[in-house]
Parts: sequence; C-alpha cells; structure tokens
Amino acid sequence: MVDAAALLRNRDAVSFLTREGLEGPRVGFVLGSGWGHFVDSTEIVAACPYEQIPGFGESTVPGHAGRLVRGRSGDHEYLAMQGRLHHYEGHPLSRIGAAVSVLRELGVRELVVTCAAGAVNPDYAIGDLVLVRDYINFMLDSPARGAGDSVGIRTSPSPRLLTASREAAESEGITLAEGVLFSSKGPSYETPAEVRMVRTFGGDVVSMSTAPELIAAGAMGMEAVAFACVTNMAPGVVPGREVNHEEVIEVMDKMKGRFSALLTAILARFEGDR
Ligand code: HPA
Repeated sequence: MVDAAALLRNRDAVSFLTREGLEGPRVGFVLGSGWGHFVDSTEIVAACPYEQIPGFGESTVPGHAGRLVRGRSGDHEYLAMQGRLHHYEGHPLSRIGAAVSVLRELGVRELVVTCAAGAVNPDYAIGDLVLVRDYINFMLDSPARGAGDSVGIRTSPSPRLLTASREAAESEGITLAEGVLFSSKGPSYETPAEVRMVRTFGGDVVSMSTAPELIAAGAMGMEAVAFACVTNMAPGVVPGREVNHEEVIEVMDKMKGRFSALLTAILARFEGDR
C-alpha cells in the first residue's frame, strides 16, 4: 500500500537541504503573503531559494520571497517556507504536499500554516488575526489522493496546538478571533454570490491556500494549526467595497510587527510544551 509520506517524498530535495544545513528544527512554518516578515525579525541560520531545491517549485506571487529558511528566535529554532506554493500558480496539490513532506523529513513535527484571507463573517474587521478552528477544503481535491493509508484520516487542526496557540497569544496580549477557514482554488476573488455561499456553508474567512498543507501534514502524522490575517472584507460583505491584491499586500505590510510577535510567541510555546 502506498502511504502519504512515500507518495509525497522528494528525496533529492531532502538530501540537498540536509547538505545545506537545514535539517533539525521540530517547529515549521508555511508563511503566506506578508507573514514572511517573521523570518526577518529572527536570526537566519541557513537559507535556500526554492529555485535551487531539486523538484521543489518556484513561488511567483508578489509578496512571496520563495526560500526555505532555518532560523532562530531566542533559544528556539524553526524551519520556514518564506513564501508558499499556491495551487492557483499552477502547482499541483501533490507538489504543495511534497513541500510539506520535505519539512517533515527535515525534522518538523508541528506545522504552523499562515495565510491572508477575506472576511466573510461581518463581525470581523481588517487586521484581525484568526486562529483556524476548522476548515472547509473547497479545492475539492487532496494532496494525499492516491495514498492508500490516508483513507479516513483526520486532518482537522490539532486540539493540542489550538490550546497552545490560544495560550501563547493570550500571554502576549494578542487578541485572536477564531473561525472556520474556507479554502478556494482562486486565482480570482470570490463573487458576492460565492461569498454568500461560503457564509451559508459555515465559513468565516476565505483564502486561496492552507487546506492542502493542513491535509498533507495530517496525512503524514504531523500536528498542524493555521492562522489567517483578514486583509479585506470579502466581496459583498460591505456593499460597494472592492478588493485587489495590492490592498492585500498593503494591509499585510502594516501587520508585520504583529505577525512577528504572534509567531515568536507560538514558537516559544510550542518548543516549551515538549
Ligand atoms: N478571497 C480569497 N483569498 C483571499 C482574499 C479573499 O477575499 N483576501 C486575501 N486572500
């Protein structure tokens, strides 16, 4: 039987990155638009641009640096994808899953996935940080498709990491909203009719990423949790308000300091929890 780890494995990338000194940290981050600023607030131990990593795939979206980083914050080390691979850029879900598999083979056991998102819940505001309590995978496909051992696996966010995340945020005085993330394929923003559907389905925020990484992590036995930053109200939630990628980048840029504070606290807490 094919298992998810074997299905998604990229041995060439793992041996290359091991030689480059990226092996070791147990906490991993997938940093979406803007969230990559966290890396810049820490000490970089080793880094490798995606285009040098065999079979990894390049990130082409403005706002995404596109490198794998081993970094240190205080006494705690982490491994981060600074810039993610998006399905809407043309990367198959298997490649997005393979990147998570590379993190796992380099030692990551707890994965923190981050993204920008539009708010569908009218009670949210631009700049809110949302702990993803659960998600709806509206990409309607799985990076683990084809892995026989993945039938029936549970890939919801880890209850232990959800609790640790709440405690880490609270200890730093960071307010977190909590909600359900709806992951769509993109690349277009949703229409107001689609946004109404997302709300009816139970979504609070919508993004074009994150579910694939959570599913891949769960399928390979990692614990995972995700955070979304509200960069805009989704179309139709506030009548007459449009959304564009430049605005999303602008909001993310203003959030730099809060991303670093949150992820620094999360790293310390996850490392300290063991
Ligand atoms: N929809 C989907 N993805 C997004 C949005 C949105 O409104 N904002 C940021 N990422």
